Amino acid sequence: MKISVIGCGYLGAVHAASMAELGHEVIGIDVDPARIESLQQGIAPFHEPGFDALLKKTASRLTFATDMSSAADANVHFVAVGTPQAADGSADMTFVNSAIEGLVPHLSEGDLVVGKSTVPVGTAERLSASVTPTAALLMWNPEFLREGFAVEDTLSPDRLVYGVPEGTDGDTATAVLDEVYAEILAKDTPRLVMNFATAELVKVAANSFLATKISFINAMAERADVTGASVTQLADAIGYDTRIGRRFLNAGIGFGGGCLPKDIRGFIARAEELGVGKALSFLKDVDDINMRRRTRVVDVLTEELGSLDGKTIAVWGISFKPDSDDIRDSPALDIAESLARSGATVVSADPEGWKPAQARIERAGLSASLTTTDNHHAAVTGADALVIATEWKVFQEEDATTIGSLMAQKLVVDGRNCLDSDAWKAAGFRYRGMGRA
Ligand code: UDX
Repeated sequence: MKISVIGCGYLGAVHAASMAELGHEVIGIDVDPARIESLQQGIAPFHEPGFDALLKKTASRLTFATDMSSAADANVHFVAVGTPQAADGSADMTFVNSAIEGLVPHLSEGDLVVGKSTVPVGTAERLSASVTPTAALLMWNPEFLREGFAVEDTLSPDRLVYGVPEGTDGDTATAVLDEVYAEILAKDTPRLVMNFATAELVKVAANSFLATKISFINAMAERADVTGASVTQLADAIGYDTRIGRRFLNAGIGFGGGCLPKDIRGFIARAEELGVGKALSFLKDVDDINMRRRTRVVDVLTEELGSLDGKTIAVWGISFKPDSDDIRDSPALDIAESLARSGATVVSADPEGWKPAQARIERAGLSASLTTTDNHHAAVTGADALVIATEWKVFQEEDATTIGSLMAQKLVVDGRNCLDSDAWKAAGFRYRGMGRA
């Protein structure tokens, strides 16, 4: 099939290459010429395991362009542009609106437009007013991919969700998308067909549930901190209950990234607009608990070191999660910035995030007190404390004795509860976890 993918960020670029992997002929379209140039050359514009290899493997069926008219040859058009957080907390629909506006003149009768972006409920219904006059069909097919596992999640998803219009149009749209995903469906992937509103809600509901699970365990970490309990053992113990499950119960400095924080805020904003704000008011607590985790690290360091003014602090981790270079709403980078604002000299190390962070640090006017590197040994040399802010494997595998020998003071704050605390204590470290001693 001939497919266009509008928007070539994490979601769109991976989706485009994955569709080519399924055997389709794909054109990826984005307004950013540098991004398109890079993709056209087979170079991933962001760090995502397996994506470079997929780009190369699918090169013969995959092209990229900046002009929307390149979509005219395709019959199925995926809209995968970003919906960032607007100033009032709601989802900013500028990119979705302009993608549809730009695409409409190039649509032909019988084409299928498939929305993948995370949008407030009611969006598909609203956009169908622009798409329907072209005799093309619109459906919503939310994406659940995790960064770091984007390729795997796209080609082997837990489920496929189809939001369709009522009646025969819905059946036609379903049949076309089934053809696109034939290889995935052949693996017995569950496929759920529902109306637009439900499909739009599924995505934000899933992310809200995950965010709630993380904030729940972080609330338990706050509780554990004042009682001497261990939140890690608590999570293990409740996680054995299959109704609860152990995944997403890792306490620490909380969630960040381009999805969870903005999606819960957008969900609250839309619920308020619809007059049911009360139903989702608990998500404000989820957000508050999450943001408190970032100050907790600064508080622990202040408890241990007294004033942070003039102290040297190493932070391992800048990206919002391991195996990613994404620094959007990263708790690790927020903490490094707060430490620098408290007067400390901070060196942040990250295998991937060290570079993209520099522009943001400059914009924040913190370049003099906060530097970044990909060398985590250099970062820790002479430091009064080490903060683990992103649980990269390379950090977890470090030898505590070696690291201790490089530091001025042996103090580690394990913001992700990911170190072997006994080994670090045995190496002479004062170890502070998040809700565990
Ligand atoms: C998330 C959803 O998982 C995905 O389905 C959706 O499509 C996009 O948003 P992603 O943002 O890639 O994916 O990251 P995820 O793995 O969910 O982690 C989000 C944040 O939660 C990270 O900052 C991570 O460090 C944090 N987290 C995760 C915890 O603090 N504790 C946990 O137990 C799990």
